[in-house]
Amino acid sequence: MCGIIGYVGFRDSKEVLLNGLEKIQYRGYDSMGLLIVTKQGFKRVRSVGDIRQLRKKVADAGGNSGSWGLGHSRWATHGPPVEANAHPHKAEHIYIVHNGIIENAEELKAWLKGPFLSETDSEVVAHCILDSYKKNSSLKEAVFDTISKIKGEYAIAVMSEKDPNELIAFKKGPSLVIGLGEKEIFLSSDAQVFLPYTNRVIFLKDGEMAHIQNRETLYFYSDKKQKIDKPITLLDSYFTETEKKGYPYYMLKEIYEQPDCIANLIETHVNKKACKVEVGINNEKDFLDQIVQKGRCNIVACGSSYYAALYGKYAIEKGSRISIGVDMASEFRYRSPVLSSRTPLLLISQSGETADTLAVMRMAQELSLPVLSLCNVAHSSLDRGASAQLYMSAGMEKGVASTKAFTSTLFILFLLSIVLGRKKGSLSLSEEQKIIPSLLLFPDQMKEVLSREKECVAAAHLLRALKSFIYLGRDIYYPLALEGALKMKELTYIHAAAYPAGEMKHGPLALVDADTAIVGLAPKSHVSKKTFSNLEEARSRGGKMIVVGTRGDKESVSLSDCFLSIPSCNTYLSSILCVLPLQLIAYHTACSLGHNVDQPRNLAKSVTVE
Ligand code: AGP
Repeated sequence: MCGIIGYVGFRDSKEVLLNGLEKIQYRGYDSMGLLIVTKQGFKRVRSVGDIRQLRKKVADAGGNSGSWGLGHSRWATHGPPVEANAHPHKAEHIYIVHNGIIENAEELKAWLKGPFLSETDSEVVAHCILDSYKKNSSLKEAVFDTISKIKGEYAIAVMSEKDPNELIAFKKGPSLVIGLGEKEIFLSSDAQVFLPYTNRVIFLKDGEMAHIQNRETLYFYSDKKQKIDKPITLLDSYFTETEKKGYPYYMLKEIYEQPDCIANLIETHVNKKACKVEVGINNEKDFLDQIVQKGRCNIVACGSSYYAALYGKYAIEKGSRISIGVDMASEFRYRSPVLSSRTPLLLISQSGETADTLAVMRMAQELSLPVLSLCNVAHSSLDRGASAQLYMSAGMEKGVASTKAFTSTLFILFLLSIVLGRKKGSLSLSEEQKIIPSLLLFPDQMKEVLSREKECVAAAHLLRALKSFIYLGRDIYYPLALEGALKMKELTYIHAAAYPAGEMKHGPLALVDADTAIVGLAPKSHVSKKTFSNLEEARSRGGKMIVVGTRGDKESVSLSDCFLSIPSCNTYLSSILCVLPLQLIAYHTACSLGHNVDQPRNLAKSVTVE
């Protein structure tokens, strides 16, 4: 999960690269570096830490003005985050930045001479290109020759002091995008870098090379070395500039954007006049009919997107009686799933770049399975590879801990359960019409829950002193317990686990003592009574009780050391509402511990390596 930047143009490349790295440091921020082509030659500056440390080192280094260059933000896969392992890596006159994993790096190292100054697989590629360069007529040929030798998934950008007017990039796996300005060309892992300069972009596909020869001349090649033409895409509104707008962290801004995100989805997918849900799918418009016809659909994703998929299983099976299989992508691709032909596959990914989820997409393509993607990033690899598309439409999400994209996904899955129920005949039009008013009310209910943030701050003060967290929920609330536990652990670095509330007696109850926080999701529902009993069992063993319940419900209040209330609504929606206080208690607990909430340690926003 690293970030690559390249620039050829008329501006001071140092500033373009530093500003670009600041925008993509969410992809990896344990070390950074850049290369500037100056009149005095190639100047490389690298640092441990995030953009602040690199800016300081570049300033201390002085000079370094030029109009070509490369930049890189690193999330360590091979070798610790130390300056020697930061990119760009070099081998004599060859410089490279790399995102991905070279699976045969050790094998290549055996016959390359070195010396190797880092512990990274990326440096091996630089030496491989150097070796090829000595046997080939050009940098381009040397890169082609290297590509034929290295194995794995990678995006690379290469420059050479012997060919200072060439920048070569190649993609096989992680994203790589070209931005076309006026007399300037940009390269990046993420198109948002180009925003201040251009909205005209070209997405490289796997096996394609970009060869930049000057600020107005570039060519594209297939991995068979044939010149190819590439279409230009105009970036849409998703990529509008996002700033913190006064919030301390992007994550808090994105938490507060959730009601508007849901309101936008209602505008897009709910026909108020006809009092009907109409989920618009791009390309294969009959995808939902295929699911109804097959009577089954598999949903595959990672992390929070997987927890959303689990919510989708509960919602769609309850609402339409269609069988839903749910898998983590990293498991699905290896467990030899039994897939009958043409069983539709829904792949959920906020970034659309998660390596394991993309691997499942490729597996589905080989099996000719219809794939519907649900992404937040248009033109992402998953969005472009699927046969049909749906969008979270939550706008750019910069906090590594997903919030607005997650709840947007839940809401879309609830809408899908309604449409599938209608198509299957298990939901009558009149039943559907009764649901519509609750949908239209939902954004305001979200705002109302967020207006009680202070209650979550109080809960955070109780939580921060505790040693572990156990999140409990039954039925459709269980996936959200999983999500709440993930938010807490990825932001506070304190262990948190989630269990179906009914499972506690089968072992996890042994964990409970006075240092344990019990976060129970127990809004009024067909399972709340049983959940109360489970919470009581945990409380009687000393657990500190944080309960998310329906406003005015005396029983859940009586169980709580800290009660977080939500308004009354149906279980499909109240389970989504529960997520908001869970996001806020994780956020405030992490803030009270002094953590960088937008960039939690060891993590990155887009997991582009397996
Ligand atoms: C969520 O807060 C985490 N950042 C992580 O679990 C994330 O959901 C997961 O990596 C999947 O990302 P994707 O939705 O972009 O595929």
